[in-house]
Amino acid sequence: MKNILFSAIFALSLVTATAAETNGPAPATDRVGFPTNYAKSYEVLRTVPRDEGKKLVTVYGNRAAASMTNRTQLPYPNGSVLVMETASTVKDTTGQPAKDAAGNLLKDKVLGLHVMRREKDFGVAYAEKRSGEWEFVEYRADGSYLTPPEKSANCAECHIKAGAEKDFVYNGRFADPGKQ
Ligand code: HEC
Repeated sequence: MKNILFSAIFALSLVTATAAETNGPAPATDRVGFPTNYAKSYEVLRTVPRDEGKKLVTVYGNRAAASMTNRTQLPYPNGSVLVMETASTVKDTTGQPAKDAAGNLLKDKVLGLHVMRREKDFGVAYAEKRSGEWEFVEYRADGSYLTPPEKSANCAECHIKAGAEKDFVYNGRFADPGKQ
């Protein structure tokens, strides 16, 4: 009897752990792909200082994503990859963010990469949390996972709020002041 009770509790805790970790239905495999060489081969669409310049966010697009130069062209073409890189910045001797002669922040270490890829029929696995034809993954600079595909339902769910009229991309190249 005791054993049955223990296994029931164990099974229950497994179920809760899985639900908490996955946040909902999500793709089982990585169809986004680590964007090797994005810093050199993708176009910089926008940079945004964060945390009073302690961090610098850079949004990159591959050729297909960068072809979106005006929102009248939406939706993004299939094959589009958007990368949102967060990096720490170089600090001066007083601990304040250092700037180059032109007043730009200097990137130090890449802390993480939010990546979304659009392809035909992508996103089906997110079920009710689907945001268009995109799938989402978050990588470290070395290609390991911060948010693997099976835990990416949160990404898709929040991008629903960007809206179908923006193809579920909050900003991409386009900064909407006050709407971030
Ligand atoms: C709580 C809401 C929320 C969650 C969760 C979220 N995002 Fe976003 N995401 C945003 C917002 C808001 C922006 C726009 C930020 C900006 O432009 O400064 C954004 C921007 C992006 C961009 C740049 C393109 C764009 O939409 O402007 C990518 C790529 C991205 N997110 C991927 C991801 C991935 C991958 C995950 C999960 C690991 C994720 N997001 C989770 C809200 C969210």
